[in-house]
Amino acid sequence: MDYAETREEALARIAGTQDLGALETLRVEFLGKAGSISGLLKTLGSMSAEDRQTVGPQIHALRESVSDALTARKAALESAAMDAQLARETLDLSLPAPEAVRGTIHPVSQVMDELAEIFADLGFAVATGPEIEDDWHNFTALNIPESHPARAMHDTFYFPDAMATDAGKMLLRTHTSPVQIRAMIADGAPIRIIAPGRVYRSDSDATHTPMFHQVEGLVIDKGIHLGHLKWTLETFLKAFFEREDIVLRLRPSYFPFTEPSVEVDVGFALLNGKRVLGGSGDAPGHGWMELLGSGMVNRKVIAAGGLDPNEWQGFAFGVGVDRLAMLKYGMDDLRAFFDGDVRWLQHYGFSPLDVPTLSAGVGVRP
Ligand code: DAH
Repeated sequence: MDYAETREEALARIAGTQDLGALETLRVEFLGKAGSISGLLKTLGSMSAEDRQTVGPQIHALRESVSDALTARKAALESAAMDAQLARETLDLSLPAPEAVRGTIHPVSQVMDELAEIFADLGFAVATGPEIEDDWHNFTALNIPESHPARAMHDTFYFPDAMATDAGKMLLRTHTSPVQIRAMIADGAPIRIIAPGRVYRSDSDATHTPMFHQVEGLVIDKGIHLGHLKWTLETFLKAFFEREDIVLRLRPSYFPFTEPSVEVDVGFALLNGKRVLGGSGDAPGHGWMELLGSGMVNRKVIAAGGLDPNEWQGFAFGVGVDRLAMLKYGMDDLRAFFDGDVRWLQHYGFSPLDVPTLSAGVGVRP
């Protein structure tokens, strides 16, 4: 017997199915327990060995091509069903534009972004440290020993004695300088970082809030000297205030963690009772304003950071971020920074689209 006809007919019916249900019905019809092809297979048992040898392979081949055709048709119908579903189901991910821009970027965030942009261009990475610090990192390692008057000057918020560790009492960091120690211990030398962040002191009036922001700068390398510090600060402040005529005055000062230490003043002009940065403070109608603290990193601090002070030198500086924002964008009461008054935020805040870039000038007038 020739099964070619049976096969052609079966394959044509399989090819003609339009849905998975009809295909399953066909599968049962051909290959199910009581299916027609299953029935043919059963006839093999009652055949003579000779017949079985010729007919057997034909029935098996028939069953195989029908089974292959069923599988192929099933895959084709499934993928057609998926395509149809994809074409049918669409998802609109767009949102209607808001009627008015709502959120703004806080001036402190804006200034921190500007600082990161300026210093990234000079090869500085941004480092961070914990706001809950220990006595060793905040004071001792920075050459401020137990009895040092600077400890009293910092009006420190301490945690209860019960929380003290081997590194001394726990406290809210009073400055970003402990990040110097953490960076040296974590990364070794050379180092070029800025560390912006929150700091805390028990102090409050129009120019002091218990929480405020500083940015620390630290460079550790070989052969670093005061000239590098002065150039870096000049380059930074010219880019930040977007004025080429920024003039700095370095005054000898004292910080336990730097030796020598310098306080940096910036020249301003008095225009209609307002201080406008730029020009020498010694010029007529001008003055000097104290801006930041800095100096060459004290040998003891380099050693506390786990480095050999005979091999590595560096400079550091610390400056108030809120103060930089006030000077650049003209606010006069620091407390307003942290009131969360939406009118203040709308007035002084920045558009989220005003991402600071050096090429466009880092700052945007609100
Ligand atoms: N940590 C000092 C402060 O809060 C600021 C400072 C001064 C940081 C001199 C420095 C520095 O890195 O060299 O008030």
